Amino acid sequence: MNKDFNLNSQDFENDFVWGVSTAAYQIEGAYNVHDKGPSIWDEFTTKKGTVFQGQHAQKTCDFYNNFETDILLMKTMNIKHFRLSLAWSRILPNGCGTVSREGIAFYNRVIDFCLECGVTPWVTLYHWDLPLALQQKGGWVNRDIINWFEEYATVCAKEFGDRVKHWMVLNEPMVFTGAGYFLGVHAPGSTGLKNFLPAVHHAVLCQAVGGRVLRNIVPNASIGTTFSCSQITPYKNTPKDIEAAKKADALLNRLFIEPALGLGYPVDAVPVLKRLENYQKPGDETKAIFDFDFIGVQNYTREVVKHSYFVPYIQAKIVKASQRDVKNTLMDWEVYPPSIYNMIAQFSKYEGVKKILITENGAAFTDLVMDGKVNDLERLQYLQSYIKQVHKAKEDGYNVGGYFIWTFTDNFEWAEGYRPRFGLVYTDFTTQERIVKYSGKWFKEFLGNT
Ligand code: BGC
Repeated sequence: MNKDFNLNSQDFENDFVWGVSTAAYQIEGAYNVHDKGPSIWDEFTTKKGTVFQGQHAQKTCDFYNNFETDILLMKTMNIKHFRLSLAWSRILPNGCGTVSREGIAFYNRVIDFCLECGVTPWVTLYHWDLPLALQQKGGWVNRDIINWFEEYATVCAKEFGDRVKHWMVLNEPMVFTGAGYFLGVHAPGSTGLKNFLPAVHHAVLCQAVGGRVLRNIVPNASIGTTFSCSQITPYKNTPKDIEAAKKADALLNRLFIEPALGLGYPVDAVPVLKRLENYQKPGDETKAIFDFDFIGVQNYTREVVKHSYFVPYIQAKIVKASQRDVKNTLMDWEVYPPSIYNMIAQFSKYEGVKKILITENGAAFTDLVMDGKVNDLERLQYLQSYIKQVHKAKEDGYNVGGYFIWTFTDNFEWAEGYRPRFGLVYTDFTTQERIVKYSGKWFKEFLGNT
């Protein structure tokens, strides 16, 4: 136990939102039921060498069939807010055109069941699973994505907006453009600036398009979008490392929020971003702006960055936690609680940011089942130390309105497969048995039954 942790949920104000976060591809399974179309992840996971041990998410937690059990479990754990995403290719199998009534019916069942159980759904429109049919036309690199995304957002808003009042447009655009369209380590496996830069610009425009569609169609909606972000520390206090850290900060923390606030791209820090102009049309700068009700900050770690001549465009590289002799997680991410505080502070500095919600925070450690129990003390300590920092941020006057743990049940961790487990609840992927971990039992007590 963490002796320094003596908070409970009542130490935050009454309307502070406590929840858990998930994503469709990572939990649903049922990858080809009815007329569901394939997504880029369905395809990517069939390619050799893309995912740890050739794993895929065709079944994963089988949330498609287990959603009632999982939502009931949430209820018994006093969890009243559930962040989930919609699988675009379950709703529009080809990405645009025909709507799948089966897909809509599935999400209606999930949403209705949440509401019946007193669990509020928080819905993300896009959490990385682009319909493969759209990727075959270029995906995020093709400017037509703006129309496809508008159509998809409109269907979702019209079908579910009567009951879903909390929306997020995109999940971590820096990750799906950076890992998927520059490094090629996530779906669709594209690489290089010629893919990355247009994908970035189109994601920025879709971020605002999604916001406008939701605003127009869903009365009283609270609309946000989410960003991955990490405090950046220079490796050494040298001018070169400080410069490298500035570049990393611009790419990892500023690239997507600043155009939405009308501040444009951070070309000051990363001159190669000037090449985004090649994909910009007159009026785009204004079209990128949307007044979000909240910003979803997703923080896990901090990054330590040093200068490197060998990294093209930015001459900066991350020094992994394992190379620095610090406490790390199974993802090789440093455990560094002040990072969440500092990111809240950094995002709060923008005049246009009205409210922050921590829409993801959590950790993967080795979990062992012993006598039917998972005694995940490291995760418990991690969560408590980060929650403490969120509390401190509130005490210091920052407008933080909620905190969602990544994640509810262990699930498919993208290119890392099933090895890193992040859940409050252990998943046995063979039997689909769920075991509430020690951290999950603690979270239940922490929340209380109010
Ligand atoms: C993503 C999740 C992911 C988690 C842990 C976030 O970047 O939104 O999908 O599982 O971090 O890596």
